[in-house]
This record gives sequence, C-alpha cells and structure tokens, in this order.
Amino acid sequence: PAPGWSIAADVVVVGSGVAGLTAALRCEAAGLTTVVVTKARLDDGSTRWAQGGIAAALGEGDTPEQHLDDTLVAGAGLCDEEAVRLLVTEGPDAVRRLIATGAHFDESTDGALELTREGGHHRRRIAHAGGDATGAEISRALVEAVRARGLRTIENALVLDLLTDAGGRTAGVTLHVMGEGQHDGVGAVHAPAVVLATGGMGQVFSATTNPSVSTGDGVALALRAGAEVSDLEFVQFHPTVLFLGPDAEGQQPLVSEAVRGEGAHLVDADGVRFMQGRHELAELAPRDIVAKGIMRRMRERDAEHMYLDARHFGAEMWENRFPTILAACRAHGIDPVTEPVPVAPAAHYASGGVRTDSHGRTTVPGLYACGEVACTGVHGANRLASNSLLEGLVYAERIAADIAGAGDALAARVPQPLPAAERPAYPLLPAEARLTIQRAMTRGAGVLRSEESLAGAADRLHRLHADARDALDEHGKTAEPGVDTWEATNLLCVARVLVAAARQREETRGCHWREDRPERDDTTWRRHIVVRLNPDRS
Ligand code: SIN
Repeated sequence: PAPGWSIAADVVVVGSGVAGLTAALRCEAAGLTTVVVTKARLDDGSTRWAQGGIAAALGEGDTPEQHLDDTLVAGAGLCDEEAVRLLVTEGPDAVRRLIATGAHFDESTDGALELTREGGHHRRRIAHAGGDATGAEISRALVEAVRARGLRTIENALVLDLLTDAGGRTAGVTLHVMGEGQHDGVGAVHAPAVVLATGGMGQVFSATTNPSVSTGDGVALALRAGAEVSDLEFVQFHPTVLFLGPDAEGQQPLVSEAVRGEGAHLVDADGVRFMQGRHELAELAPRDIVAKGIMRRMRERDAEHMYLDARHFGAEMWENRFPTILAACRAHGIDPVTEPVPVAPAAHYASGGVRTDSHGRTTVPGLYACGEVACTGVHGANRLASNSLLEGLVYAERIAADIAGAGDALAARVPQPLPAAERPAYPLLPAEARLTIQRAMTRGAGVLRSEESLAGAADRLHRLHADARDALDEHGKTAEPGVDTWEATNLLCVARVLVAAARQREETRGCHWREDRPERDDTTWRRHIVVRLNPDRS
C-alpha cells in the first residue's frame, strides 16, 4: 500500500539493539537528524538477551593480535582478516566509550574489569555485567542515552521495504506502524541514509535462543532491494541451550558459554566428560566443535540431550555470577546447584547477512548494515563467542563516521523516492506459514544437514512461495498486510536463500555441517556464497 504519512531525516536507523542505538547516538552526536524505528519496544531485540558478555583485549597481557588469532581460527578460513583487524583494534576503545555512555560492567575489588572466558578464546577477555546479564545492561544504558538525548524514535514499526530514487540510491523506508498515534498505519521515513540494524533470523528454526522478533526482516528487505547477501548457510547453533523437551518451540533459555568458561563440565547421562580428547580446549573449544561433540555423543547414546555439570560452583557462586541462568533453570524445575543441567544445541546466531565493506556500506548506495543483520566478514564460517556485541559497537561507529563524513553531499541530497505504484507488488504469506517454515527448516537445515534433508526443506519452502505467488498473480490476492504476515514472508525469503546456499556448499566448514560431505574442502570452498536477487521477483 502507498504510505499514508511521511517524515524526513538525514538518517533512519532500523533496529534498536547495540548496533542500532550506537549508530543512532553517534549520528546524532555528529549533528545528523536521526530517527530510530524498531519493530517492538526499544529494548525488545536480541541484545537484551545476551549473557556471556563482550569480547575485547582489555586484560593485562592480552593484545588485539591474540584476539585476532582466536577469531580467525573460529572462522574456519572464511574471515576477512582486515575486517577482523578493525574489530579487535578498535574494540577496546569502543567498549570504553560504551562505558562512558553509561553501561556498568562487573569489576573486581581493585576496580579493574572482571573478565571471563568462553569457547575459542585462549585468554580471559570477556567483559560482563550483572554476572550474566550483559546485554540487558548494555540495552538499558543505550536506551537511557537515546531518551536523554531526545532522539526521535518510532516503536512498533515494522520496516517493510527500502525506498530508492530513480538512480537506485537509498531514499528511505516504508513502515507498518501499530498504536503510535500520528504515525499509525503504513508510512515512510524519507532519508538518504538507512542503517539496517534489525538483528538476526533465529526464528527461522523451531527452537532458538532468539526472541520472537528475530525474523530476518533486514536481510529480507535487503534481498528485495537487490543488495548482496552473503554466508547465510553459516547458522551458529549454541551448544548449551536449556533442554525443555524434544518438541519445545520458540525462544529457549540460553546457558552461557561463560558457565563453561568458569569451569563447568559437559557430561553424558553417566557423568562422563566427552569433550576431553576431542580438542585441546575441551569444553572451551570453538562453538561449532562443542556443538558437534554434543550431537555426536547424543547419537552414540541415543539421547535427546547432554548435561552441563556445575554443581561444584556452589550456591553462592551460582547466585552471584549467574543469577539469570539460575533463575531460568529453577523456573523450569532444575536446580543447577544440586543437579546437572540438561542442554542441547539450538539456533543462535546468523554469521552471514547483508554484505558490507569496512564502513558498513552495502551494495545499494546509501544503505548500511551493522550487527547481526550484516556480514562484515568478521565471523567467517563460525563466529567467535562474544564477538557479536563488539561487532555491533565497532561497525555502528564506523557507519556513523562514514555518514557524517558524507556531510554536505548528504545534506544536499533530498531523497526523491519512486512512487509506490512503480514498485513491484509482493506476495504476502499467511501468518500460519511461520510454523511450517520453522518445522521444515529444523528438519532439513538444522545442525546436521545433507543434500537429501536440504532438498526436502527446499521443496516445502518452494511450495509455500509458489502458492503465495500464484494467489497474487492469478487472483490478485495476498494475505492481509500486518506484522505476522510480513514476518512469515520475511522468514520464507531468508529461509529459501539459506537452504540454497547450504545445498551449494558441498563441504563441512565451521557451523555448516554436511553429513554427506564431512570434510572441509579448501580447494573449492574457501570462498563465500554471495546472493543477489532480482528485485522484481524475489
Ligand atoms: C553466551 O553467553 O554463551 C553467548 C555468547 C555469544 O553468543 O557470543
């Protein structure tokens, strides 16, 4: 539908996690008129749920070079080394600026930051807050800063599509807004710069650590706009998610890697530690290796889950260091102080996303991306634990600097979006399709994949798309536009690309595990799968 209202700004930031709010604050500080739009409330995204912390070479004896080495190893040959170098060298100061913005991290009695370890890190370099509530503290501090600075925000605003001008340059976004007074219904923010910071797509699977809002909206928008998207096959499955039963669906409670970082053991039902001997770092091996170790042991034992045993922490340490996880376990009738915690891998993080350069620029002029929605090249085939909050921070700052650097050129460009009628109609899926997509993806494109399983998923997804397309082309019918139908449509869009990439990559690398191609193939596959859809038919 044509927008019923419009406002104008220099920059519109879509999303309100660490990446979006950092970009918005820095743009505003540079004197740019900035509007933040977000799908639910300002603090409803994934950032709030982050537990372990934020990685940076902040400890004595640690260096960005060592952080770089660990990141490259985890990324299994596909990291962009220069992108990682920027991350690890600019990271420590970016964390200090976050602290200056108001985030409080845990400190030892001498006032130094307390640092923990997680999988793949050879040193203690993860700063944390509230024990295991790091994301909640970062979110609180950034939301408060945004409110204190009086930034214009529009909540409950689902981004629909990118607006472009006749020259193919960014001209703003269209939004579907519910319950925000004068900005209700379908509207538009016209702006020559758009920053996508919409987070991940974990909801493409049945069980995920991601909140229900993580439906791949930014990647789907970018695909529809003809931007390049890369590495979608690399979905990271977090090894230790609280196991709530084989049919559990939706957001599942995370049991942070930091629990292993502080000495918890992974054991089977007989209490046997099974990561020893599989990797020199045992339980603290990179995430993909631990997830595979758990899956293998589950198969060997015909078990639905393994256990995380941290009874030796004692009640005081559990209460002080991991209060969020303790509460979540107890809410489900499990007491980690007295019993091992049942855990299994679940979808956690999209290592791929909208392809950007080192300034966060996508392949569409004026469109930027940062945070989980982006593929800056820092994660390669498998993100190193706790690098995601850091990436959001560092690359958001780089984007703000790039937009601010455009200065006069930006101010001189009044966006002239093409009228809605000249943009192609898009078939919307019914809301119920979300469950069908999640189940097809979990069955066919989960931790263990093969050509056969992926083909099954592709077939199911294709039928959903074809039905929606036929209904539109033949009968002019599409599902009623709304948040649920757009989310289902976006999930289908990203799921199809993910499955196609996973079929194409005929090897096992990082978090992409093909049972029928168990070896890493550096001759053919030390490269990225980059996708660009035809905007008219995506
Ligand atoms: C965790 O706390 O285990 C999650 C950290 C991350 O995903 O980087």
